[in-house]
Amino acid sequence: DDIEITAAEGGESLLDRYASDFSAGTDGWVARSAGTASVAVTEEGALRIEGRQATWNSPGREFPLTAGETYLLSVRVRQDEKASAEFILSVAHSRDGRESYENLAFGTAKQGEWTELSASYTAGPFDRYILYVETHNSGTLSFEIRDFRLTRKTADAFGAEGIPSLKEAYAGVFDFGAAVTLPEVFSKPRMAFCAEQFAILTPGNEMKPDALIDVNASRRLAAEDEGAVALDFTACKPLLDFAKANGVKVHGHTFVWHQQTPEAFFHEGYDPAKPLVTREVMLTRLERMMRGTFEYLEANYPGVVVSYDVLNEAVDDSTGRLRASNWLKVVGEDYPERAFELARACAPAGVRLFYNDYNTAFAAKQNGIVKLLETVMATGCIDGYGFQMHHDLAMPSVAAIRASVDRIAALGLRLLVSELDITIPDGSEATLEKQADMYRAVMEILLAHAEQVDAVQVWGVTDELSWRAQGRPLLFGAGGEPKPAFLAVIEAAQGR
Ligand code: XIL
Repeated sequence: DDIEITAAEGGESLLDRYASDFSAGTDGWVARSAGTASVAVTEEGALRIEGRQATWNSPGREFPLTAGETYLLSVRVRQDEKASAEFILSVAHSRDGRESYENLAFGTAKQGEWTELSASYTAGPFDRYILYVETHNSGTLSFEIRDFRLTRKTADAFGAEGIPSLKEAYAGVFDFGAAVTLPEVFSKPRMAFCAEQFAILTPGNEMKPDALIDVNASRRLAAEDEGAVALDFTACKPLLDFAKANGVKVHGHTFVWHQQTPEAFFHEGYDPAKPLVTREVMLTRLERMMRGTFEYLEANYPGVVVSYDVLNEAVDDSTGRLRASNWLKVVGEDYPERAFELARACAPAGVRLFYNDYNTAFAAKQNGIVKLLETVMATGCIDGYGFQMHHDLAMPSVAAIRASVDRIAALGLRLLVSELDITIPDGSEATLEKQADMYRAVMEILLAHAEQVDAVQVWGVTDELSWRAQGRPLLFGAGGEPKPAFLAVIEAAQGR
């Protein structure tokens, strides 16, 4: 009686609330079983499962969940056969007919006692969801469930009415953008807000080598051809689809990096237990990763990806030399130049190629970055430098940031701020104002070089989803409410 299903945009069903009611039968609950298990309603109005032959034999029900929405779930379980038994509330989800599972809540039920399991679940990118209660290390005992409840937690609305748009404020100056991660892409209100605010988006994780390289498929190919790479674009596809449909640009991030790259990529047969591959094999794998990516993007999203980080964080913080990494070890000192040459040879015309790094405002690092840029510029294959700008209120100083931007700009490269965020020590009004002042100062520095700047991107949209969430480093609160820093960034554009 307590089920509410409202129609969402695009004809999808959106479940707001559900409470199990077994007064008129099993209410859509079935026994997940390939054998003898069955469910029936008890006299007390609970749902009882009997005849189980495996731990996954369980009462389960399909729910029309919506990817990206967060749900609160709870259920009570009881068993009479053992002193205590462990239960799990789980979800079986499928996409394109392939089923996978997640355990959402664990609980121990003492004999004869109703025990609650509860969880918060954000629905992943699937087209079918079954919620069920199974046992864990407790054999195939019979048990009962009741009071299964589900409540959608995510708000319908996101962002504030009538606020100015960053994208519009900077139109004709440079592109203002943000990083967005896969779970965010499934929230329609959040993404509608992103399309209003941002001219360019970057996948926060989904185009990194660990997302792009399919290690198992690559291993199979390597048996015939050590230079082969199998690529998988399923993680970045939703953002690319969104960008294409909404006329938003995408900045690609990233090919060559010492992090978030499978160790197997550097080894013979894609087997970390085997020796590192030769320089020639590594350069072939790199070339094919980049070529395969650019070919996929050209075929499916022509013109959407306007720039790409070919190389990320290659310079060591304290020495300014190339940092120790598999790339340095396997390819050698010239790996940055070779990476840019290979990228240029396969990038679609007009896609700008960037070197991207952090702490550019610090002396030793800056010297190393400039040296690296000069070396790579000699190949004629690099377009620009991306300042990550992961800053803190206290550090680096505005003067140091300005000096670093002036120095890199003097090299004549295109400039990007790829990952701007500014952490603060607390959320007081005074501190939020200081953060706003720092954002304003950074924007003024970049506006002074506007004709050289392609884009300024913040590394995330809302504070609570930031990779540095504790430092509240971004422009919006969890519901999309603008912080003083947002207005400061708008005002900087107006005051130029
Ligand atoms: C971060 C992501 O935001 C996190 O979600 C992930 O766990 C680690 O990487 N420099 C970069 C980015 O180039 O790719 C990093 O992103 C942040 C630092």
